Amino acid sequence: MALHFAKRITEYKLAKELFTRGKDIILSPEAQVLKTFTQHGETTVFEHCLSVAKFSLLMAHFLERTLKISIDKDSLVRGALLHDYFLYDWHDKTVPGRRVHGFTHPTTARKNAERDFNINDLEKDIISKHMFPVTPFPPMHRESVIVNLADKWCALCETFKVDVSSYIIYRVNFNIALAEGEYSIDYGETKAEY
Ligand SMILES: [Fe+2]
Ligand SMILES: [Fe+2]
Repeated sequence: MALHFAKRITEYKLAKELFTRGKDIILSPEAQVLKTFTQHGETTVFEHCLSVAKFSLLMAHFLERTLKISIDKDSLVRGALLHDYFLYDWHDKTVPGRRVHGFTHPTTARKNAERDFNINDLEKDIISKHMFPVTPFPPMHRESVIVNLADKWCALCETFKVDVSSYIIYRVNFNIALAEGEYSIDYGETKAEY
């Protein structure tokens, strides 16, 4: 029970931090398109990117607290959120080029991200190198290594249907709904006398 509560607290803080650092991307209409594509198993590309951003943040906190290695967490989250921003259904093998998706999608995602968002060189490296060693060029920054590892862990969990991120996905989607005014607090009428 205590462990469960501790996990919730951690996930809550992570969700808050993730949303704050990646707000402009998460709330953009462009990023909502990622909800329409499936990544692994039953996970959408949007959910996969949130999951990768979460584990990247977790690793960053671990490295900062235990080894005193500083991490650019803003770029880390933004790069993780956009690392699979290729914007097509990669399962449709009838489309020319889909069979080499694994090799080509980091470049497509980087170009799309450059077109739709204001991304820096570190974020470009994170996106471009996230498939190493499938693609030949190794990550050049510690943030790129973190996202590369988090991506592989999340892909494994999603493929084998191990739920590691449903709470953070729920929290972020709730924050999106709040930001879009989908929820409001209706106190109704009161008969209380003051
Ligand atoms: Fe990818
Ligand atoms: Fe990925």
